[in-house]
Amino acid sequence: MRLLSLSFLLSTCLAVVAQNSSSNLNNSLSLTPAMGWSSWNQFGDSINEQLIMETIDSMDKSGLKEAGFIYINLDDGWQRYKGDRKDHPGPLEADPVKFPSGIKALADYAHSKGFKLGIYSGPGDLTCAGYTGSKDHESEDAVLWASWGIDHLKYDSCCSHADAPQAEVQAVVRTMSLALLSSSRPIVYHACHCGWVSVWEWAAADGANQWRIGQDISDDFNYPGNREKYYFDVLDMLDRGANLTQYSGPGHWNDYDMLIVGLEGKSGQLVGTGASDVEYRTHFSMWAMVASPLLIGADVRTLSNTSLTTLLNREIIELNQDPLGKPADVAWESADKTQQIYAKVMADDSYAVALLNRGGATADMNLNLRRDLTIPWDKYRVRDLWKHEDKGPYDMPYSVEVMAHEAKILRIWPVEKTRN
Ligand code: GAL
Repeated sequence: MRLLSLSFLLSTCLAVVAQNSSSNLNNSLSLTPAMGWSSWNQFGDSINEQLIMETIDSMDKSGLKEAGFIYINLDDGWQRYKGDRKDHPGPLEADPVKFPSGIKALADYAHSKGFKLGIYSGPGDLTCAGYTGSKDHESEDAVLWASWGIDHLKYDSCCSHADAPQAEVQAVVRTMSLALLSSSRPIVYHACHCGWVSVWEWAAADGANQWRIGQDISDDFNYPGNREKYYFDVLDMLDRGANLTQYSGPGHWNDYDMLIVGLEGKSGQLVGTGASDVEYRTHFSMWAMVASPLLIGADVRTLSNTSLTTLLNREIIELNQDPLGKPADVAWESADKTQQIYAKVMADDSYAVALLNRGGATADMNLNLRRDLTIPWDKYRVRDLWKHEDKGPYDMPYSVEVMAHEAKILRIWPVEKTRN
């Protein structure tokens, strides 16, 4: 399957047009990372109208909507046809068996309950799962999605295309960006290219609100050998993002992939044996810290109370949705890299800090403000965002025991500021 089969000549021409275009591709959307649910991690392309409506109802009732998870994103598999567009001329259609009422009716339902609806396509003849793609029909498709009331598009040029030239990928990203802007509906734009061709360096300028930094996540916290086999576990993905934080900010975000919280090793789509409750909590906390979009990947209708409690922690969500939009950086790490401190400044000048124990045994970890955060507060107070407890004030390094694969997530405020 050759999804990006534009001829070299055509791609070069498109890239030149793209580079010379002076149009402003900023859609002013996604000033904080998108939050919601996506169908892929749990269900793959086995999706249907009833499932999506039940997901909406469940997220409404469980408090997930109230907590900010409002995008309901259909991933690949909503389309009627597999195969080339040439064999299926005419507008894209939803599968009439899976979605008998059509996507517009579903969007109306989502909107009536206070949610937004997302959809999926790609720039090739085929999407990654082999459904009909948007190649050469970008404007037509964007207008169609806008007429349905779509609010988010994942536009996927597929992880198998590591070798596609940057100019070609950039041209197709930009073409859809222009099509969405001309559709006159605010549609958040995810340009998904699995972290190839340094997509973070240019995608924001080409109108993308988010882009994946790596290949698909697996349902594992740390599973050595996974990465070589295509999948990234939680720690792989964190490491992948470690040097990319400069590219993320309001309107344009590094996407660490959809959440695995609650999959429990039972995904119909992803590989992986599942993670423990502590590991899922660490994963959620770290995605919040690095300002990734937070798209739940599990079946929300059957989430355990523990997973639901994890996803509903508003103090953690606040770190992700902070208007300053700073992703956390690694502020300190032990020589063997089993202990790391991630930190970021918040809009109110407080700091969010993660003490991450990647090792296999409980560890005593210390946070030294002058060493790790280069902030000269003499006295500070600490809030533990999982215990929901205030601690301090302290005038010495903060020490705490951190379990294997746990992250202590802290928020730190000054009590007395600088002593010069
Ligand atoms: C992959 C993508 C997945 C999912 C899938 C659908 O390329 O990484 O997240 O969207 O395609 O076919």
